[in-house]
Amino acid sequence: MLRTATHDASVVTVEFDTGTKARFHAIWLRDNALDPETRAPGNGQRLITIGDIPSDISVSAAEVRNGDLTVTFQPEDKTVTFPADWLAAHSYDHDHDLATGRTAPGITTWERGIDAPSADWDEVHANPAAKRGWLAAVAEYGFAKLTGGPTEPESLLKVADLFGYVRQTNYGPYFEVRTEVNPTNLAYTGLGLQAHTDNPYRDPVPTLQILYCLENSAEGGDSIVVDGFRAAEKLREQNPDGFALLAGYPARFEYKGSDGVCLRSRRPMIELSPDGELVGIRFNNRSTAPLVDIPFDQMEAYYAAYRQLGEIIDDPAMGVSFKLEPGESFIVDNTRVLHARLGYSGAGSRWLQGCYADKDGLLSTLAAMEMDQPEAAE
Ligand code: FE2
Repeated sequence: MLRTATHDASVVTVEFDTGTKARFHAIWLRDNALDPETRAPGNGQRLITIGDIPSDISVSAAEVRNGDLTVTFQPEDKTVTFPADWLAAHSYDHDHDLATGRTAPGITTWERGIDAPSADWDEVHANPAAKRGWLAAVAEYGFAKLTGGPTEPESLLKVADLFGYVRQTNYGPYFEVRTEVNPTNLAYTGLGLQAHTDNPYRDPVPTLQILYCLENSAEGGDSIVVDGFRAAEKLREQNPDGFALLAGYPARFEYKGSDGVCLRSRRPMIELSPDGELVGIRFNNRSTAPLVDIPFDQMEAYYAAYRQLGEIIDDPAMGVSFKLEPGESFIVDNTRVLHARLGYSGAGSRWLQGCYADKDGLLSTLAAMEMDQPEAAE
């Protein structure tokens, strides 16, 4: 509910019944008008362009009616109502957190010692609250396990079906992670792999990866996940200048390990939004190409920061490890959480299948479930 509304030609100031005040510009209010000539009633999409709004837009009246805000714009002489709750939810008149390297609201960074978020296959299929909790864990922590699934090949595709779509690549709709005689990728060997994000040579990068275990009786082969955002936070604390270098210059990544494929990207190891929010990590020793975009004078300091980030990532205090059993899988947010595996050998076998999917689909499914069941358990 609103208490009062005052205005001049270009700004409306409202006071909510909580006592909070907020200012809104005439151009912003007009662009976000909720009337059916501005927003399509069915799909909610905007019907006008920025050019449809008169450049001399102004407010000629603003008043509280039934607790909501009613504004009349000139020269259109158009009157529109803005619900108080909508204004409260979309207020921008407050101090914005612009700390460089901050994480988005809803992100919780972690290191070794947390319990790996986990859900049960049957539960997420039968119980929407369980599915919602599993998706929410991926959103908050950047990874989650799924246990108790079938041990048939291609079961990982059913994991993606729970929230979205598989993203096909040159590796196919999914790929086999097991020892091959002439591997096209070091993942298909028994070698241990340093914690990494997958496929940084793609642009856009695959945003989710699913790794699904079908056999794992070999010695070793444990999976380890590391929170790249926590690693970036640590680097920023220990070496702010190094953090700025890894965020401020593009790295280069490349893969041309099989015929007809030559993937290249030019993106930073630590990616920030224009206002400094941490949005992505790319870290992969196998596919980092020669770095040629860092000024000569900064190259040694860049490498020192790269080494330091690697040391943080390799620190055993950072990783959460687990050995997947057949029928178990995990999802990682490949823009944030790195995955590693211990080397394996000897008797027995290790067979995982992996695929990529897109985080926007997962977050969309989660947000739609949260809108449908706002009262569901947190
Ligand atoms: Fe990988």
